[in-house]
Amino acid sequence: MRNHAVPLSNNTSLIKWVDKMAKLTQPAKIHWVDGSQEEYDMLCQQLVDGGTFTRLNQELWPGCYYAKSDANDVARVEDRTFICSLSKDNAGPTNNWENPFEMRRKLKGLFSGSMAGRTMYVLPYSMGPIGSPMSQIGVQLTDSAYVVVNMRIMARIGLPVFQEIDKDYKRVVPCLHSVGMPLAPGQADVPWPCNKEKYIVHFPETREIWSYGSGYGGNALLGKKCFALRIASNIARDEGWMAEHMLILGIEDPQGEKTYIAAAFPSACGKTNLAMLIPPAGFEGWKVWTVGDDIAWIKPDEKGRLRAINPEAGFFGVAPGTSAKTNPNAMKTLASNTIFTNTALTPEGGVWWEGMTDTPPAECLDWQGNQWTPESKTKAAHPNARFTAPASQCPSIDPAWEDPNGVPISAFVFGGRRADTMPLVYQSFNWSSGVYIGATMGSETTAAAAGAVGKVRRDPMAMLPFCGYHMGDYFRHWIKMQKGLEETPKLFHVNWFRKDEQGQFLWPGFSQNMRVLKWIVDRVRGRALGQETPIGWVPRHDDITWDGIDFPATDFEKLQKIDRKAWRAEVIQHEELFIDLHDHIPSEIIYERELLICRL
Ligand code: GTP
Ligand code: SPV
Ligand code: MN
Repeated sequence: MRNHAVPLSNNTSLIKWVDKMAKLTQPAKIHWVDGSQEEYDMLCQQLVDGGTFTRLNQELWPGCYYAKSDANDVARVEDRTFICSLSKDNAGPTNNWENPFEMRRKLKGLFSGSMAGRTMYVLPYSMGPIGSPMSQIGVQLTDSAYVVVNMRIMARIGLPVFQEIDKDYKRVVPCLHSVGMPLAPGQADVPWPCNKEKYIVHFPETREIWSYGSGYGGNALLGKKCFALRIASNIARDEGWMAEHMLILGIEDPQGEKTYIAAAFPSACGKTNLAMLIPPAGFEGWKVWTVGDDIAWIKPDEKGRLRAINPEAGFFGVAPGTSAKTNPNAMKTLASNTIFTNTALTPEGGVWWEGMTDTPPAECLDWQGNQWTPESKTKAAHPNARFTAPASQCPSIDPAWEDPNGVPISAFVFGGRRADTMPLVYQSFNWSSGVYIGATMGSETTAAAAGAVGKVRRDPMAMLPFCGYHMGDYFRHWIKMQKGLEETPKLFHVNWFRKDEQGQFLWPGFSQNMRVLKWIVDRVRGRALGQETPIGWVPRHDDITWDGIDFPATDFEKLQKIDRKAWRAEVIQHEELFIDLHDHIPSEIIYERELLICRL
């Protein structure tokens, strides 16, 4: 077997940095990650031996593992996430800021000896296909084998990335990660090491990430939110492109014409479901292709068209609610070679979560390992239980999903979880009014982040927790992106979550969302009509294809209703966000607000 301590790169600055960080964190061993299947299998076995992983029944769930996290480490921690730019003003009022020099001092203290008794993995990863002009490289030093095996699914890792680094001194984003639980000599480990004190820290100017105390999801898989959104949004602003919290999908019509759209919904608001949609009855000959379910990097090409790549290689998807009915493509994707975290474990060595089947298992172990039966008052799976599954296994994965130049984007869709006010779908009048719609997006909070659930908050472009600089400057960047484009994508807003007086969803959602997608495609292609309203263009009943469903026109009217009183309150809520951002808000946004008020 290869000596894992021998560096797999000859980049001297990388080797020096690894040495320096090892001196700080004091690991027992260093392991340079090659990314091979053998290495993955070995690490998984190690996790099984240590009690972090349970190997699932290999007949039912080939290649799958199950992990339970510590009960205090189950989601992103927004209040422990920091943007440490040199000036506080650059981070803006929607980010936690601390002076970078003080933060560095604090982190050095925390990381000092933090890997004692553990292995430090040197994990190189590429966000985006290796070698694509749109890709970026990071190296994560981590003391968590769980993170390494998850990252192998979520990103391109290992030897080919080291080769990229060695080839042309590519700029690398250094990422230091520790679960913050050093082991004294002889001290036994726990299945899910972590620390009560958590710090998820970004230094945007030096493009660095330091993450301490958590092993879960976006806190620990640093290629995802920390790099591909918070650091990348900074790089993108400087270089004239966009890093967005968006799914990417392609809609193919019966003639074979494909239209790609990117859609920004907040965490746990339906990106994975929409990205993998299977058209319902009435849409024979239509097909939806998946490019990505969480993050889009979008750049203008030489023809003045926006093109997007999915920087990830896997899906870190919300398990609860995923079923053969709501998302059959996801169920097929996660059927093998998947890591489940915080779902329930069934007696036959399978996983289960709320909504997976109509009938729950007669008994199982819940996400904390306690006996659970359908009579139990608690949930079997944590609401933010997730699957880590390879994108290549998705039946609807787009043939172009790894195209180094990305796919052309014809429309952007914004959407939130709103029980009232927001119609099923509307289209902005133009780019700047669409940017206003994205900038003022609201959504109910979900279990994807620690804290209260179900409260409407402003979440501009679904980027509130992920924009690595001042939100007002981010709006300006959006406004600027349109300048120089030959083809401007059309902008839409959708809401699958409007409720009636009884609190029931008015819209069946899921595969039925295809009807909305088709109207969007028709609008993009100049085929569909609509009606002008104070907030934008909306479909009339006849503009939507209703083949294959018996959906009462009166319900459609309810879904599309623009209630002026509710909109008055809505616009006042926009102002609350703008007061915080006022000294950075672009004039276009101010004017769009005035125009909206006038129209209303
Ligand atoms: P992150 O991975 O956290 O960024 O989120 P995501 O947007 O990918 O979340 P996901 O698609 O996993 O959202 C799952 C939640 O949205 C579940 O609660 C689903 O039931 C719900 N959901 C998805 N699509 C629909 C829909 O069309 N209608 C309704 N009512 N709920 C939906
Ligand atoms: C989100 O919360 O938006 C996610 C999951 O996609 S995590 O990677 O944990 O942030
Ligand atoms: Mn997300």
